[in-house]
Amino acid sequence: MQITLTRPDDWHLHLRDEAAMRAVVPYTARQFARAIVMPNLVPPITSVDQALRYRQRIVEAVPTGLSFEPLMTLYLTESLSVTEIEKAALDPHIHGVKLYPAGATTNSDSGVRDVQAVLPVLEKMEELGLPLLVHGEVTNPEVDVFDRESVFIEKTLNGLITRFPKLKLVLEHITTKEGVDWVLAQTENVGGTITPQHLLLNRNALFQGGMRPHHYCLPVLKREVHREALVKAATSGNSRFFLGTDSAPHAQSRKENACGCAGIFSAHAAIELYAEAFEQANALDRLEGFASLHGPQFYGLPVNKEKITLNKRDWTVDSSYPFGDDRLVPFRAGETIHWKLE
Ligand code: DOR
Ligand code: ZN
Repeated sequence: MQITLTRPDDWHLHLRDEAAMRAVVPYTARQFARAIVMPNLVPPITSVDQALRYRQRIVEAVPTGLSFEPLMTLYLTESLSVTEIEKAALDPHIHGVKLYPAGATTNSDSGVRDVQAVLPVLEKMEELGLPLLVHGEVTNPEVDVFDRESVFIEKTLNGLITRFPKLKLVLEHITTKEGVDWVLAQTENVGGTITPQHLLLNRNALFQGGMRPHHYCLPVLKREVHREALVKAATSGNSRFFLGTDSAPHAQSRKENACGCAGIFSAHAAIELYAEAFEQANALDRLEGFASLHGPQFYGLPVNKEKITLNKRDWTVDSSYPFGDDRLVPFRAGETIHWKLE
């Protein structure tokens, strides 16, 4: 069996910087025409000038012969100015501003502690149509880690969208039925991305035969009912749901660690993993919309002209890949994937 799709884009990706970035860019560039690149470097990307320099470093890491366009984002801090938002909205390479609640995840310390502090910036983004990309989790340590997304929706997101009803907003990496329902309850200026791991795994995968650090990401995997809600949303054909891998490389030594980092690297097989999830749901005919059409529609960008072909063919994922002076353990390391991008 074989399927042909319009070449897809990844609407949520971590590329890191320097040697780590150069190690992972080729995997994404081989599959995707464009990707929304997350700004959570250390220090974070907080200005248009920094984003453009980072973009240039990424472009230089794209192997010759591949076409890949990095779509840049700014990191929302409480000191980001309205003037910088105006500059970002005018720049053809900047496509969004990322909201990390401070402390929610990897490199989020410079994120937002109090949404009140960023209201003028959000107002300007609403006015200029610059998307807000949201890591939707509360950070209150008293909230159960599995409830952090649903509590964030209740405590922060509802208020935000009531105050800025026209704000273009992406609820990134949705992991719960509440997240799906929230996106569905909004108007077309609100979308949601879904990762391959949240379509394929539930939280049992964290403890399958022992602790599984390579299944740990944030927001953390949830119960089966939530996975089913995500599969239903992704395969529904609704254009407000689109592909965002959240592929997030960490060195093997930092994952297999007493305090392992959050993040799953999936760029080596992203489209194949989505194909598996869609096939399991008997919805391969909906994959192209989710992977290649809905994202450009939301971001107001043209649909890619090229095509890709996937064959139903088993292959084994390497146990690890080079990653600077360490190794990178990919999703499904050493295991079989049933689709192959040719
Ligand atoms: O698992 C994650 N890893 N979730 C995030 O939100 C950030 C990411 C990273 O940068 O490693
Ligand atoms: Zn992410």
